[in-house]
Amino acid sequence: MNKQPAPPSSAPDTASERLLDQLSRNSTPHLDPLARVNWEGLDQDAFWLPEAAISLYGLPQYENLTIPRRKALSRFEFLNFIEAGLWLESLFMKRIGRSLSQPRRRLPELIYHLHELREEAGHSLMFLELIRRTAPDLPNDHFYRWNLANVMAHFAPFESIAFWVAVLCGEEVPDRMNRFIRKHRQEICPSVYDIVSIHIMDEARHIAHARDTIEQRLSLTPAWQKRLMRPVINRVFRQFVDTFYFPTQATYELAGLDPDEDWPRLARNNPHRIAFVDQCVASSLRILRDNGLQLDWR
Ligand SMILES: [Fe+2]
Ligand SMILES: [Fe+2]
Repeated sequence: MNKQPAPPSSAPDTASERLLDQLSRNSTPHLDPLARVNWEGLDQDAFWLPEAAISLYGLPQYENLTIPRRKALSRFEFLNFIEAGLWLESLFMKRIGRSLSQPRRRLPELIYHLHELREEAGHSLMFLELIRRTAPDLPNDHFYRWNLANVMAHFAPFESIAFWVAVLCGEEVPDRMNRFIRKHRQEICPSVYDIVSIHIMDEARHIAHARDTIEQRLSLTPAWQKRLMRPVINRVFRQFVDTFYFPTQATYELAGLDPDEDWPRLARNNPHRIAFVDQCVASSLRILRDNGLQLDWR
């Protein structure tokens, strides 16, 4: 009997590859974020963040602010959050782009990374549209200064645990904030609701892939190696948390707050903010802890 040729199948042979195939199918057809936001709903006199998500919320100094000033602060804090998103997405897109010129890795992974690239480009276009419409001169250079998070994101090998821990934290940490904002639809500007909703939907897939990658990699890493990498990864984690949750003085001044007050210090010592951030980072910390990497953010 003639031997049958192997079917021309690219059927996935591992759970990770099945997940990648599933995620790629869920990313198709691509829905353009830029076209899905109702920009007519953009209201510069509304809150852009629910008040409980503002860094000074709960402090007497916050209570003393007028409502228009609080709204301005919510707008500039959200814009700062968006700028941090642009920074992070630019790093991730750069790394995916660079990986394309390497000898090809697993095909399902390559295909899914291209879906991610397309989606991150869509988010960045959506963020830039918000900036173009409301604050085209917003300063953003401080995100691109060399710190450990930037060094790691640029130079850690694409396949390394360090890189994927950075990806997971970079996606999961802001995602919790997006979910909090989304729950308070009645309190915020409708276009902001659209922006965070669209982002959450795509990020759920990106996070599923990053979690799976981390679990695979960490399960193969000896405990001594995790202990060795912990201080560096923890520092990167703290820088992500800082970038997303603790605006610099410039943000407060753009919102018209007194330039003589040290607002970043007040935010950092604000018990309400600390509890809020605790809540937002809990899931990242739990995933890493379950895989043998014990981190903290303060
Ligand atoms: Fe994104
Ligand atoms: Fe993402």
